[in-house]
Amino acid sequence: MNLQKHIEHQLFRVISEVGKKHCKSSFVIGGFVRDIILKRPSKDVDIVVLGDGLEFAQLVAKELGVKKVSLFKTYGTAAFKYKDIEVEFVGARKESYTKQSRNPKVEQGTLADDQNRRDFTINALAISLNSSSYGEVLDPFNGLEDLKLKIIKTPLDPDITYSDDPLRMMRAIRFATQLGFKIEKNSLAAIKKNAERLKIVSTERILVELNKIILSDTPSRGFKLLFDTKLLHQFFPEMVELQGVETIDGNSHKDNFYHTLEVLDNISEHTDNLWLRWAAIMHDIAKPRTKRFNKKTGFTFHGHEEVGARMVYGLFKKLKLPLDHKMKYVQKLVRLHLRPIALVKGNVTDSAIRRLLCEAGDDIEDLMTLCNADITSKNEFKVQKYKSNFDKVRKKLKEVEEKDHVRNFQPPITGQEIIKTFNLEPSKIVGEIKHHIKEAILDGKIKNNYNDAYAYMFEVAKKLGVH
Ligand code: CTP
Repeated sequence: MNLQKHIEHQLFRVISEVGKKHCKSSFVIGGFVRDIILKRPSKDVDIVVLGDGLEFAQLVAKELGVKKVSLFKTYGTAAFKYKDIEVEFVGARKESYTKQSRNPKVEQGTLADDQNRRDFTINALAISLNSSSYGEVLDPFNGLEDLKLKIIKTPLDPDITYSDDPLRMMRAIRFATQLGFKIEKNSLAAIKKNAERLKIVSTERILVELNKIILSDTPSRGFKLLFDTKLLHQFFPEMVELQGVETIDGNSHKDNFYHTLEVLDNISEHTDNLWLRWAAIMHDIAKPRTKRFNKKTGFTFHGHEEVGARMVYGLFKKLKLPLDHKMKYVQKLVRLHLRPIALVKGNVTDSAIRRLLCEAGDDIEDLMTLCNADITSKNEFKVQKYKSNFDKVRKKLKEVEEKDHVRNFQPPITGQEIIKTFNLEPSKIVGEIKHHIKEAILDGKIKNNYNDAYAYMFEVAKKLGVH
Protein backbone atom coordinates (compact mmCIF):
# COMPACT_ATOMS: atom_id res chain seq x y z
CA MET A 1 0.00 0.00 0.00
CA ASN A 2 1.20 3.51 -0.77
CA LEU A 3 -0.17 6.46 1.16
CA GLN A 4 1.86 9.14 -0.59
CA LYS A 5 -1.14 11.37 -1.21
CA HIS A 6 -1.67 11.68 2.55
CA ILE A 7 1.83 12.91 3.24
CA GLU A 8 2.14 15.68 0.69
CA HIS A 9 2.29 18.26 3.48
CA GLN A 10 5.41 20.41 3.41
CA LEU A 11 6.41 19.03 6.80
CA PHE A 12 6.88 15.52 5.44
CA ARG A 13 8.61 16.70 2.28
CA VAL A 14 11.12 18.68 4.31
CA ILE A 15 11.78 15.74 6.66
CA SER A 16 12.41 13.59 3.63
CA GLU A 17 14.85 16.12 2.12
CA VAL A 18 16.75 16.54 5.39
CA GLY A 19 16.94 12.72 5.63
CA LYS A 20 18.36 12.47 2.13
CA LYS A 21 20.92 15.19 2.72
CA HIS A 22 22.15 13.67 5.99
CA CYS A 23 21.76 10.02 4.99
CA LYS A 24 19.15 9.30 7.66
CA SER A 25 16.09 7.12 7.17
CA SER A 26 12.88 8.39 8.69
CA PHE A 27 9.27 7.19 8.95
CA VAL A 28 5.91 8.45 10.14
CA ILE A 29 4.72 5.94 12.72
CA GLY A 30 1.93 5.09 15.13
CA GLY A 31 -1.37 6.84 15.68
CA PHE A 32 -1.07 9.25 12.76
CA VAL A 33 -0.79 6.40 10.25
CA ARG A 34 -3.65 4.49 11.89
CA ASP A 35 -5.82 7.61 11.78
CA ILE A 36 -5.13 8.30 8.08
CA ILE A 37 -6.51 4.87 7.26
CA LEU A 38 -9.45 5.27 9.62
CA LYS A 39 -10.10 8.74 8.15
CA ARG A 40 -9.88 10.35 11.58
CA PRO A 41 -8.16 13.71 11.24
CA SER A 42 -5.11 13.94 13.48
CA LYS A 43 -2.66 16.75 14.27
CA ASP A 44 -0.14 14.62 16.19
CA VAL A 45 2.70 13.26 14.12
CA ASP A 46 5.34 10.84 15.40
CA ILE A 47 8.52 10.47 13.39
CA VAL A 48 11.00 7.68 13.96
CA VAL A 49 14.56 8.14 12.71
CA LEU A 50 17.29 5.57 12.34
CA GLY A 51 19.91 7.31 14.47
CA ASP A 52 19.79 10.32 16.75
CA GLY A 53 16.25 11.72 16.94
CA LEU A 54 17.23 14.90 18.79
CA GLU A 55 19.81 15.97 16.26
CA PHE A 56 17.52 15.15 13.34
CA ALA A 57 14.63 17.14 14.85
CA GLN A 58 16.86 20.20 15.15
CA LEU A 59 17.98 19.92 11.52
CA VAL A 60 14.36 19.66 10.36
CA ALA A 61 13.25 22.56 12.58
CA LYS A 62 15.99 24.74 11.14
CA GLU A 63 14.94 23.94 7.60
CA LEU A 64 11.30 24.75 8.42
CA GLY A 65 12.19 27.98 10.22
CA VAL A 66 10.85 26.69 13.54
CA LYS A 67 12.65 28.40 16.44
CA LYS A 68 11.51 26.46 19.49
CA VAL A 69 12.38 22.79 19.78
CA SER A 70 11.75 20.98 23.08
CA LEU A 71 14.40 18.40 23.82
CA PHE A 72 13.72 15.56 26.26
CA LYS A 73 17.18 14.11 26.59
CA THR A 74 16.25 11.44 29.15
CA TYR A 75 13.66 10.01 26.77
CA GLY A 76 15.68 10.68 23.63
CA THR A 77 12.79 12.58 22.08
CA ALA A 78 12.37 16.05 20.62
CA ALA A 79 9.20 17.91 19.73
CA PHE A 80 8.05 21.10 18.07
CA LYS A 81 4.95 22.65 16.66
CA TYR A 82 4.80 23.41 12.96
CA LYS A 83 1.69 25.34 11.89
CA ASP A 84 -1.07 23.44 13.71
CA ILE A 85 0.81 20.14 13.83
CA GLU A 86 2.59 18.73 16.89
CA VAL A 87 5.59 16.73 15.71
CA GLU A 88 7.62 14.39 17.87
CA PHE A 89 10.90 12.76 16.86
CA VAL A 90 12.48 9.70 18.34
CA GLY A 91 15.46 7.58 17.35
CA ALA A 92 14.46 4.01 16.48
CA ARG A 93 14.88 1.98 19.65
CA LYS A 94 14.87 -1.38 21.25
CA GLU A 95 13.43 -1.59 24.74
CA SER A 96 13.79 -3.93 27.68
CA TYR A 97 11.71 -3.73 30.83
CA THR A 98 12.10 -4.65 34.47
CA LYS A 99 9.24 -5.88 36.65
CA GLN A 100 8.99 -2.80 38.87
CA SER A 101 8.71 -0.04 36.35
CA ARG A 102 7.09 0.89 33.08
CA ASN A 103 10.18 2.88 32.12
CA PRO A 104 12.30 0.66 29.92
CA LYS A 105 16.02 0.37 29.36
CA VAL A 106 16.54 1.77 25.87
CA GLU A 107 19.09 0.97 23.17
CA GLN A 108 19.41 2.11 19.56
CA GLY A 109 17.60 -0.20 17.19
CA THR A 110 16.25 -0.79 13.72
CA LEU A 111 12.83 0.18 12.41
CA ALA A 112 11.71 -3.40 13.04
CA ASP A 113 12.88 -3.17 16.68
CA ASP A 114 10.93 0.02 17.02
CA GLN A 115 7.78 -1.49 15.56
CA ASN A 116 8.17 -4.51 17.85
CA ARG A 117 8.05 -2.35 20.96
CA ARG A 118 4.75 -0.74 20.00
CA ASP A 119 1.54 -1.51 21.80
CA PHE A 120 -0.80 -2.72 19.04
CA THR A 121 -0.50 -3.93 15.48
CA ILE A 122 -2.65 -1.01 14.34
CA ASN A 123 -0.24 1.39 16.07
CA ALA A 124 2.90 -0.21 14.65
CA LEU A 125 2.26 0.86 11.07
CA ALA A 126 4.91 3.09 9.51
CA ILE A 127 5.05 5.16 6.32
CA SER A 128 8.42 5.66 4.68
CA LEU A 129 9.67 9.21 4.18
CA ASN A 130 12.75 8.06 2.28
CA SER A 131 12.88 9.34 -1.26
CA SER A 132 13.23 5.89 -2.85
CA SER A 133 10.09 4.56 -1.15
CA TYR A 134 8.18 7.72 -0.20
CA GLY A 135 4.66 6.90 1.02
CA GLU A 136 5.14 3.14 1.23
CA VAL A 137 3.52 1.44 4.23
CA LEU A 138 5.62 -0.88 6.37
CA ASP A 139 3.34 -3.29 8.12
CA PRO A 140 5.20 -6.21 9.70
CA PHE A 141 2.31 -7.36 11.91
CA ASN A 142 -0.66 -7.14 9.55
CA GLY A 143 -1.93 -3.98 11.19
CA LEU A 144 -3.75 -3.04 7.98
CA GLU A 145 -5.70 -6.28 8.14
CA ASP A 146 -6.52 -5.70 11.82
CA LEU A 147 -7.75 -2.20 11.00
CA LYS A 148 -10.07 -3.72 8.43
CA LEU A 149 -11.24 -6.44 10.81
CA LYS A 150 -11.47 -3.95 13.69
CA ILE A 151 -9.19 -5.88 16.01
CA ILE A 152 -6.94 -4.74 18.84
CA LYS A 153 -3.98 -7.09 19.01
CA THR A 154 -0.42 -6.77 20.33
CA PRO A 155 2.54 -7.31 17.95
CA LEU A 156 4.30 -9.63 20.43
CA ASP A 157 2.98 -12.08 23.01
CA PRO A 158 0.32 -9.98 24.81
CA ASP A 159 1.55 -11.20 28.18
CA ILE A 160 4.88 -9.50 27.49
CA THR A 161 3.42 -6.33 25.95
CA TYR A 162 1.04 -5.74 28.90
CA SER A 163 3.37 -6.80 31.62
CA ASP A 164 6.10 -4.51 30.17
CA ASP A 165 3.81 -1.50 30.17
CA PRO A 166 0.52 -2.14 32.00
CA LEU A 167 -0.91 1.20 30.83
CA ARG A 168 -1.40 -0.57 27.51
CA MET A 169 -4.22 -2.59 29.06
CA MET A 170 -6.11 0.67 29.58
CA ARG A 171 -5.16 1.76 26.08
CA ALA A 172 -6.49 -1.48 24.59
CA ILE A 173 -9.86 -0.86 26.17
CA ARG A 174 -9.75 2.82 25.28
CA PHE A 175 -9.09 2.08 21.59
CA ALA A 176 -11.69 -0.68 21.55
CA THR A 177 -14.27 1.77 22.93
CA GLN A 178 -13.25 4.80 20.90
CA LEU A 179 -12.96 2.97 17.59
CA GLY A 180 -15.62 0.32 18.13
CA PHE A 181 -12.99 -2.47 17.83
CA LYS A 182 -12.83 -5.89 19.45
CA ILE A 183 -9.93 -6.96 21.65
CA GLU A 184 -8.45 -10.19 20.33
CA LYS A 185 -9.08 -13.25 22.54
CA ASN A 186 -5.51 -13.86 23.74
CA SER A 187 -5.06 -10.20 24.39
CA LEU A 188 -8.18 -10.05 26.53
CA ALA A 189 -7.04 -13.09 28.49
CA ALA A 190 -3.64 -11.45 29.06
CA ILE A 191 -5.31 -8.28 30.36
CA LYS A 192 -7.30 -10.34 32.86
CA LYS A 193 -4.14 -12.10 33.92
CA ASN A 194 -2.10 -8.93 34.31
CA ALA A 195 -4.80 -6.60 35.68
CA GLU A 196 -3.09 -6.19 39.03
CA ARG A 197 0.03 -4.84 37.34
CA LEU A 198 -1.88 -1.65 36.67
CA LYS A 199 -0.77 -0.73 40.20
CA ILE A 200 2.63 0.42 38.89
CA VAL A 201 0.96 2.99 36.62
CA SER A 202 0.29 6.48 37.93
CA THR A 203 -3.33 7.44 38.49
CA GLU A 204 -2.90 10.47 36.23
CA ARG A 205 -2.07 8.27 33.26
CA ILE A 206 -4.87 5.85 34.00
CA LEU A 207 -7.29 8.76 34.12
CA VAL A 208 -6.17 10.15 30.76
CA GLU A 209 -7.31 6.86 29.22
CA LEU A 210 -10.43 6.63 31.37
CA ASN A 211 -11.53 10.13 30.37
CA LYS A 212 -11.12 9.18 26.72
CA ILE A 213 -13.34 6.16 27.35
CA ILE A 214 -15.88 8.38 29.07
CA LEU A 215 -15.87 10.80 26.13
CA SER A 216 -16.47 8.09 23.53
CA ASP A 217 -19.86 7.54 21.87
CA THR A 218 -20.83 4.51 23.95
CA PRO A 219 -18.74 4.62 27.13
CA SER A 220 -20.53 1.63 28.67
CA ARG A 221 -18.59 -0.65 26.30
CA GLY A 222 -15.35 0.48 27.91
CA PHE A 223 -16.65 0.20 31.45
CA LYS A 224 -17.95 -3.30 30.86
CA LEU A 225 -14.51 -4.32 29.61
CA LEU A 226 -12.83 -2.58 32.54
CA PHE A 227 -15.12 -4.46 34.88
CA ASP A 228 -14.79 -7.86 33.18
CA THR A 229 -11.00 -7.64 33.11
CA LYS A 230 -10.92 -6.35 36.72
CA LEU A 231 -8.97 -3.25 35.73
CA LEU A 232 -11.72 -1.10 37.21
CA HIS A 233 -11.21 -2.88 40.53
CA GLN A 234 -7.65 -1.53 40.67
CA PHE A 235 -8.50 2.16 40.66
CA PHE A 236 -12.24 2.64 41.16
CA PRO A 237 -13.55 -0.04 43.54
CA GLU A 238 -16.45 2.21 44.59
CA MET A 239 -17.90 1.82 41.12
CA VAL A 240 -17.38 -1.94 41.20
CA GLU A 241 -19.40 -2.09 44.42
CA LEU A 242 -22.43 -0.85 42.50
CA GLN A 243 -22.58 -4.19 40.72
CA GLY A 244 -24.89 -6.95 41.83
CA VAL A 245 -28.50 -7.68 42.67
CA GLU A 246 -29.63 -8.75 46.10
CA THR A 247 -32.91 -10.54 46.70
CA ILE A 248 -34.61 -10.84 50.07
CA ASP A 249 -38.07 -12.41 50.43
CA GLY A 250 -38.67 -12.06 46.73
CA ASN A 251 -37.70 -8.35 46.74
CA SER A 252 -34.84 -7.33 44.47
CA HIS A 253 -33.24 -4.04 43.61
CA LYS A 254 -31.78 -3.17 40.24
CA ASP A 255 -28.13 -3.71 39.41
CA ASN A 256 -26.78 -0.23 40.02
CA PHE A 257 -23.63 -0.77 38.01
CA TYR A 258 -25.48 -1.54 34.79
CA HIS A 259 -28.05 1.12 35.59
CA THR A 260 -25.23 3.68 35.95
CA LEU A 261 -23.83 2.60 32.59
CA GLU A 262 -27.22 3.02 30.98
CA VAL A 263 -27.49 6.52 32.42
CA LEU A 264 -23.98 7.28 31.16
CA ASP A 265 -24.80 6.10 27.64
CA ASN A 266 -28.08 8.02 27.70
CA ILE A 267 -26.42 11.24 28.76
CA SER A 268 -23.66 10.79 26.19
CA GLU A 269 -26.28 11.12 23.47
CA HIS A 270 -26.97 14.63 24.70
CA THR A 271 -23.68 16.05 25.92
CA ASP A 272 -19.92 16.00 25.37
CA ASN A 273 -19.35 17.72 28.68
CA LEU A 274 -16.90 15.41 30.47
CA TRP A 275 -18.01 16.60 33.90
CA LEU A 276 -21.68 16.06 33.22
CA ARG A 277 -20.73 12.53 32.15
CA TRP A 278 -18.79 12.17 35.41
CA ALA A 279 -21.91 13.28 37.30
CA ALA A 280 -23.77 10.43 35.61
CA ILE A 281 -21.05 8.00 36.73
CA MET A 282 -21.24 9.23 40.31
CA HIS A 283 -24.95 9.90 40.70
CA ASP A 284 -25.72 6.63 42.52
CA ILE A 285 -22.25 5.99 43.90
CA ALA A 286 -23.49 5.93 47.51
CA LYS A 287 -26.21 3.36 46.90
CA PRO A 288 -24.20 0.44 48.32
CA ARG A 289 -23.52 2.44 51.49
CA THR A 290 -27.10 3.54 52.03
CA LYS A 291 -28.83 0.30 51.12
CA ARG A 292 -31.35 -0.92 53.72
CA PHE A 293 -33.98 -3.60 53.65
CA ASN A 294 -37.34 -3.34 55.29
CA LYS A 295 -40.18 -5.84 54.97
CA LYS A 296 -42.70 -3.12 54.21
CA THR A 297 -40.77 -0.98 51.77
CA GLY A 298 -38.30 -3.50 50.33
CA PHE A 299 -34.88 -2.08 49.50
CA THR A 300 -34.27 1.63 50.09
CA PHE A 301 -31.32 3.90 49.45
CA HIS A 302 -32.38 6.88 51.53
CA GLY A 303 -30.03 9.81 51.44
CA HIS A 304 -27.77 8.32 48.77
CA GLU A 305 -27.77 11.64 46.92
CA GLU A 306 -26.38 13.50 49.94
CA VAL A 307 -23.92 10.76 50.96
CA GLY A 308 -22.89 10.49 47.30
CA ALA A 309 -22.30 14.23 47.03
CA ARG A 310 -20.06 14.00 50.10
CA MET A 311 -18.10 11.16 48.51
CA VAL A 312 -17.35 13.20 45.40
CA TYR A 313 -14.49 15.19 46.93
CA GLY A 314 -12.67 12.08 48.18
CA LEU A 315 -13.16 10.25 44.91
CA PHE A 316 -11.94 13.19 42.83
CA LYS A 317 -8.92 13.45 45.08
CA LYS A 318 -8.12 9.76 44.81
CA LEU A 319 -8.63 9.72 41.05
CA LYS A 320 -6.48 12.85 40.69
CA LEU A 321 -9.34 14.74 39.09
CA PRO A 322 -9.41 18.53 39.52
CA LEU A 323 -10.59 19.73 42.93
CA ASP A 324 -11.86 23.06 41.61
CA HIS A 325 -15.26 24.22 40.36
CA LYS A 326 -15.56 21.06 38.24
CA MET A 327 -15.62 18.92 41.39
CA LYS A 328 -18.16 21.31 42.97
CA TYR A 329 -20.31 21.05 39.85
CA VAL A 330 -20.35 17.23 39.98
CA GLN A 331 -21.06 17.40 43.70
CA LYS A 332 -24.01 19.69 43.13
CA LEU A 333 -25.50 17.52 40.40
CA VAL A 334 -25.14 14.37 42.51
CA ARG A 335 -26.77 16.14 45.46
CA LEU A 336 -29.71 17.39 43.39
CA HIS A 337 -30.18 14.50 40.99
CA LEU A 338 -33.43 13.27 42.55
CA ARG A 339 -35.06 16.65 42.79
CA PRO A 340 -36.45 17.06 39.28
CA ILE A 341 -37.73 13.50 39.24
CA ALA A 342 -39.57 14.14 42.50
CA LEU A 343 -41.27 16.99 40.70
CA VAL A 344 -42.04 14.77 37.75
CA LYS A 345 -43.66 12.17 39.96
CA GLY A 346 -45.58 14.51 42.23
CA ASN A 347 -47.46 17.75 42.08
CA VAL A 348 -45.43 20.56 40.67
CA THR A 349 -45.81 23.60 42.87
CA ASP A 350 -44.26 26.96 42.03
CA SER A 351 -42.54 26.92 45.36
CA ALA A 352 -40.76 23.59 44.70
CA ILE A 353 -39.70 24.87 41.29
CA ARG A 354 -38.36 28.12 42.75
CA ARG A 355 -36.32 26.18 45.31
CA LEU A 356 -34.82 23.96 42.67
CA LEU A 357 -33.95 26.92 40.45
CA CYS A 358 -32.36 28.68 43.35
CA GLU A 359 -30.19 25.71 44.32
CA ALA A 360 -29.22 24.59 40.84
CA GLY A 361 -28.51 28.09 39.50
CA ASP A 362 -27.01 28.06 36.02
CA ASP A 363 -26.61 24.28 36.16
CA ILE A 364 -30.35 23.68 36.01
CA GLU A 365 -30.29 22.58 32.35
CA ASP A 366 -27.50 20.08 33.04
CA LEU A 367 -29.39 18.78 36.06
CA MET A 368 -32.45 18.23 33.90
CA THR A 369 -30.29 16.42 31.32
CA LEU A 370 -28.92 14.14 34.03
CA CYS A 371 -32.33 13.49 35.45
CA ASN A 372 -33.78 12.69 32.06
CA ALA A 373 -30.93 10.23 31.41
CA ASP A 374 -31.65 8.64 34.80
CA ILE A 375 -35.06 7.39 33.66
CA THR A 376 -34.16 3.84 32.70
CA SER A 377 -37.04 1.66 33.79
CA LYS A 378 -37.63 -1.56 31.84
CA ASN A 379 -41.27 -0.58 31.85
CA GLU A 380 -41.66 1.41 28.63
CA PHE A 381 -45.03 2.80 29.75
CA LYS A 382 -43.47 4.21 32.92
CA VAL A 383 -40.61 5.74 30.94
CA GLN A 384 -42.99 7.42 28.51
CA LYS A 385 -45.12 8.75 31.35
CA TYR A 386 -42.12 10.18 33.19
CA LYS A 387 -40.70 11.69 30.04
CA SER A 388 -43.91 13.48 29.21
CA ASN A 389 -44.21 14.77 32.79
CA PHE A 390 -40.62 15.82 32.48
CA ASP A 391 -41.47 18.11 29.61
CA LYS A 392 -44.15 19.69 31.80
CA VAL A 393 -41.57 20.34 34.50
CA ARG A 394 -39.23 21.91 31.97
CA LYS A 395 -41.99 24.21 30.80
CA LYS A 396 -42.85 25.13 34.35
CA LEU A 397 -39.21 25.85 35.14
CA LYS A 398 -39.12 28.28 32.27
CA GLU A 399 -42.32 30.02 33.33
CA VAL A 400 -41.27 30.41 36.94
CA GLU A 401 -37.81 31.64 35.99
CA GLU A 402 -39.24 34.23 33.64
CA LYS A 403 -41.69 35.37 36.28
CA ASP A 404 -39.60 35.28 39.44
CA HIS A 405 -35.94 35.36 38.36
CA VAL A 406 -34.79 33.12 41.17
CA ARG A 407 -31.94 31.40 39.37
CA ASN A 408 -28.71 32.27 41.27
CA PHE A 409 -31.00 34.09 43.59
CA GLN A 410 -29.83 36.38 46.40
CA PRO A 411 -32.50 38.04 48.59
CA PRO A 412 -33.05 41.69 47.60
CA ILE A 413 -32.23 42.83 51.14
CA THR A 414 -28.57 42.56 52.18
CA GLY A 415 -27.21 41.82 55.63
CA GLN A 416 -25.78 45.36 55.70
CA GLU A 417 -29.20 46.84 55.22
CA ILE A 418 -30.65 44.75 58.06
CA ILE A 419 -27.81 45.86 60.36
CA LYS A 420 -28.36 49.51 59.47
CA THR A 421 -32.16 49.43 59.74
CA PHE A 422 -32.26 47.85 63.20
CA ASN A 423 -28.97 49.23 64.43
CA LEU A 424 -27.59 45.74 65.04
CA GLU A 425 -24.09 44.38 65.48
CA PRO A 426 -23.14 41.79 62.83
CA SER A 427 -24.60 38.69 64.47
CA LYS A 428 -26.57 35.48 63.99
CA ILE A 429 -29.90 37.27 64.07
CA VAL A 430 -29.01 39.19 60.91
CA GLY A 431 -28.58 35.89 59.06
CA GLU A 432 -31.86 34.65 60.47
CA ILE A 433 -33.81 37.64 59.22
CA LYS A 434 -32.21 37.27 55.83
CA HIS A 435 -33.00 33.56 55.75
CA HIS A 436 -36.69 34.17 56.51
CA ILE A 437 -36.94 36.73 53.72
CA LYS A 438 -35.39 34.25 51.28
CA GLU A 439 -37.74 31.47 52.39
CA ALA A 440 -40.78 33.73 52.02
CA ILE A 441 -39.76 34.55 48.44
CA LEU A 442 -39.11 30.93 47.56
CA ASP A 443 -42.42 29.89 49.13
CA GLY A 444 -44.19 32.55 47.12
CA LYS A 445 -45.44 34.38 50.22
CA ILE A 446 -43.93 37.61 48.91
CA LYS A 447 -42.69 38.69 45.50
CA ASN A 448 -39.01 38.75 44.59
CA ASN A 449 -38.61 42.53 44.75
CA TYR A 450 -37.10 45.11 47.04
CA ASN A 451 -40.29 46.73 48.33
CA ASP A 452 -42.01 43.51 49.32
CA ALA A 453 -38.84 42.20 50.92
CA TYR A 454 -38.29 45.48 52.79
CA ALA A 455 -41.79 45.41 54.26
CA TYR A 456 -41.48 41.74 55.14
CA MET A 457 -38.18 42.41 56.91
CA PHE A 458 -40.06 44.41 59.58
CA GLU A 459 -42.60 41.63 60.06
CA VAL A 460 -39.87 39.06 60.57
CA ALA A 461 -37.85 41.28 62.86
CA LYS A 462 -40.88 41.85 65.04
CA LYS A 463 -41.56 38.12 65.30
CA LEU A 464 -37.94 37.53 66.29
CA GLY A 465 -38.12 40.27 68.94
CA VAL A 466 -35.94 42.82 67.10
CA HIS A 467 -37.19 46.40 67.04
N1 CTP B 1 2.75 3.72 22.29
C1 CTP B 1 2.98 2.48 22.83
N2 CTP B 1 2.70 2.25 24.16
C2 CTP B 1 2.19 3.22 24.94
C3 CTP B 1 1.94 4.49 24.40
C4 CTP B 1 2.22 4.71 23.06
O1 CTP B 1 3.45 1.60 22.14
N3 CTP B 1 1.93 2.98 26.23
C5 CTP B 1 3.10 3.98 20.87
C6 CTP B 1 2.03 3.56 19.86
O2 CTP B 1 2.70 3.14 18.70
C7 CTP B 1 1.27 4.85 19.61
C8 CTP B 1 2.39 5.88 19.67
O3 CTP B 1 3.29 5.37 20.65
O4 CTP B 1 0.60 4.84 18.37
C9 CTP B 1 1.90 7.27 20.03
O5 CTP B 1 1.25 7.26 21.27
P1 CTP B 1 0.12 8.28 21.68
O6 CTP B 1 0.36 9.59 21.05
O7 CTP B 1 -0.02 8.20 23.16
O8 CTP B 1 -1.22 7.62 21.14
P2 CTP B 1 -1.82 7.50 19.71
O9 CTP B 1 -1.70 6.08 19.28
O10 CTP B 1 -1.25 8.51 18.79
O11 CTP B 1 -3.37 7.75 19.96
P3 CTP B 1 -4.13 9.04 20.49
O12 CTP B 1 -3.66 10.17 19.67
O13 CTP B 1 -5.57 8.68 20.27
O14 CTP B 1 -3.78 9.14 21.94
